[in-house]
Amino acid sequence: MTVKNETPDLKSVKSKTTQDFAKYFQAPSLKDAKKRGKEEILVHYDFTIPEEMEGVGKGKHYLIRTYGCQMNEHDTETIAGILEHMGYTATEDERTADIILFNTCAIRENAEDKVFGELGHMKRVKRNNPNLILGVCGCMSQEEGVVNRILTSYQQVDLIFGTHNIHRLPVLLRDAMFSKEMVVEVWSKEGDIIENMPKVREGEIKAWVNIMYGCDKFCTYCIVPYTRGKERSRRPEDVIAEVRELARQGYKEIMLLGQNVNAYGKDFEDITYGFGDLLDDIRKIDIPRIRFTTSHPRDFDDHLIEVLAKGGNLVEQIHLPVQSGSSAVLKKMARKYTREHYLELVRKIKAAIPHAALTTDIIVGFPGETDEQFEETLSLVEEVGYDSAYTFIYSPREGTPAAGMEDNVPMDVKKKRLHRLMEVLNKISLEKNLQLTDQIVELLVEGESKTNPDVLSGRTRSGKLVHFTADKSLIGTFVDVRITEAKTFTLYGEIVTKVEA
Ligand code: 5AD
Ligand code: SF4
Repeated sequence: MTVKNETPDLKSVKSKTTQDFAKYFQAPSLKDAKKRGKEEILVHYDFTIPEEMEGVGKGKHYLIRTYGCQMNEHDTETIAGILEHMGYTATEDERTADIILFNTCAIRENAEDKVFGELGHMKRVKRNNPNLILGVCGCMSQEEGVVNRILTSYQQVDLIFGTHNIHRLPVLLRDAMFSKEMVVEVWSKEGDIIENMPKVREGEIKAWVNIMYGCDKFCTYCIVPYTRGKERSRRPEDVIAEVRELARQGYKEIMLLGQNVNAYGKDFEDITYGFGDLLDDIRKIDIPRIRFTTSHPRDFDDHLIEVLAKGGNLVEQIHLPVQSGSSAVLKKMARKYTREHYLELVRKIKAAIPHAALTTDIIVGFPGETDEQFEETLSLVEEVGYDSAYTFIYSPREGTPAAGMEDNVPMDVKKKRLHRLMEVLNKISLEKNLQLTDQIVELLVEGESKTNPDVLSGRTRSGKLVHFTADKSLIGTFVDVRITEAKTFTLYGEIVTKVEA
């Protein structure tokens, strides 16, 4: 099979050598994705839908299933924006959909298993609706093993496109519509930054804003640097213009997104401008709340802490993935900091931002993790006192260095460690929440509670979920609530006064 991974010229990749599986075959290659070149990243402001694809979706419906992180959710907003520009409207019903896309996540094996299960189920849906275009995009499509598996065993799929190919969707859809073969276009190497793609945002209260793409950290367990390419920062003026526009449209909260936001700006060659500078500029915009995710402890510098300490619309919640409390494990993970560095950073953050709520990600059962090393994670968790955490059992990812490390930790031990870790974390979360009892907190009211439409839910500045009963007209506003009951994952409150309409 001839596989081309260079420049995205469709004509040159029109393939007659793909064993008749795929029409245009640009397959992913983890090896190529690993390379980090010095090429200049260009920013394009001229995204358009090709004339022949304008309006092709009139009267037709699309459905996107999204897996994984907020970056993926935000990509889905862009994909939806492109489809709606072509005339398609959204549906939740797979029987009436003309296009179904799976925007996938590759971070752990169980995320991938879920997608393959769903793709299997799509065979029947496709049988009932042979005109359906079924597509796979997102991080899984960047993995050669996944693409090969789809090519050979999931013939119901019509289209596979990568994380760097989203802007090509109209052209790829056209090809998928007129081709009997599977259309595959996955660039292994990141492309340029495409600025003005349309978006259909999920809500009217909170909005995601990408500040950078990719990751250069190459933690040994992580597939992301391969699936998302090298670090590329959006120009500050473009980020600021987008946040300003969202403020004008009445959004109340912005979440700045990047795989490693603290590395923002390190790739600029013409200006010295980092994440602290960006936050310092964005905080001056009249938008009530600004959050960001996700941080790498290594690049979290003093200037950033100084800016965060200014407070205002920069809320005091910091997600600071630690992954392990053992310096030896951190070294094997190539995290580039030690337990002591991390604790020192936490000390500095707490000193500058006394009410900061710290949250984290932790992996248990990394290859060769000993009982003592796991105990170090537990003691770090106690020492930091996280408000909450995402916890995972290590999942080997093909092509990453850790996947080749000897792993002598049995799965039942990993599961027991996860369970113990969660017990410790939950105990701390409950203690922290109990401290809020009787306190008055400011909430941004996000909507009806997921489990009871008579109850409203909102979040504190620190990101905690609070349920309370009040009039639905308060959705999208800020209210003061007194906390009446605290549980491990949620708080309950009663409304005190309305702060801002
Ligand atoms: N196995 C388990 N967890 C992982 N994460 C990333 N890669 C893996 C893996 N191979 C976790 C990390 C990261 C979060 C987004 O997912 O904790 O911070
Ligand atoms: Fe993965 Fe590490 Fe990059 Fe996070 S910082 S995306 S864990 S490589």
